[in-house]
Amino acid sequence: MKKGLNNSAADEIIVPRSVAVIMDGNGRWAKKAGFERIRGHERGIDAVRTTVTECARLGVEALVLYAFSEENWARPKREINMLFKLLKRFLLDERGTLMDNNVRLLHSGRRARLAPDVLELLDETIALTASNDGMQLSLAISYGGRQELVDATQKLAKRVQAGELAPEAIDEQSIHDALYQPSLPDPDVLIRTAGEMRISNFLLWQVSYSEIYVHDICWPDFGKDQLHEAFRDYGRRERKFGKVL
Ligand code: FPP
Repeated sequence: MKKGLNNSAADEIIVPRSVAVIMDGNGRWAKKAGFERIRGHERGIDAVRTTVTECARLGVEALVLYAFSEENWARPKREINMLFKLLKRFLLDERGTLMDNNVRLLHSGRRARLAPDVLELLDETIALTASNDGMQLSLAISYGGRQELVDATQKLAKRVQAGELAPEAIDEQSIHDALYQPSLPDPDVLIRTAGEMRISNFLLWQVSYSEIYVHDICWPDFGKDQLHEAFRDYGRRERKFGKVL
């Protein structure tokens, strides 16, 4: 937790060091507005841009956005194709936004099922922004928390097999280091939109002590005001990390 941005204590925005977001409710937003689901995802991109630029402006160090889960592969093929079309457009069109805001892009997730053209755009944008030293933005794409732990366990098992690591030397730090993006600090706050009280297989290891903030609003309507509200709420939490204060 760091700087406060307002004078009035009641209204103070406490900027978390690290934020993770489950961007839920695009489909519900579209249904309510009488549109096809994909229009909700399209509007979701605008909300992504707002949250990325505002977090970067406020000085958040790391932001992880749950863009496509391992479980999302079970959605209708048409929706998957449209989502990746949008993702590719985002990776091309928002390069200026990332560079202007000194944001470094990362990917959290499995690469195996991603199409070559998605990987190419992802890798290009990651390379383009690699020397930006402001906020780290990781897009969780083809991501699952359990799958991340499976992959981390396999990495560690291989090191044990190669004689580089003793089984009893495996500790929390070595597990952290085997995750997809070890440079990311654990989220201080996990934001979820559209009211659902679930973790949905997101960052299972990393959210152990995250403050969970659920807003009823659907993701396309989540703007600066709602982000500030989340940070104000975070600022009012008493974080004990299991200890007695
Ligand atoms: C949840 O809404 C949202 C998703 C599964 C995808 C999130 C994707 C975006 C915001 C756009 C692309 C992202 C980036 C980073 C470019 P839902 O479809 O589950 O909504 P519902 O629960 O109301 O049906």
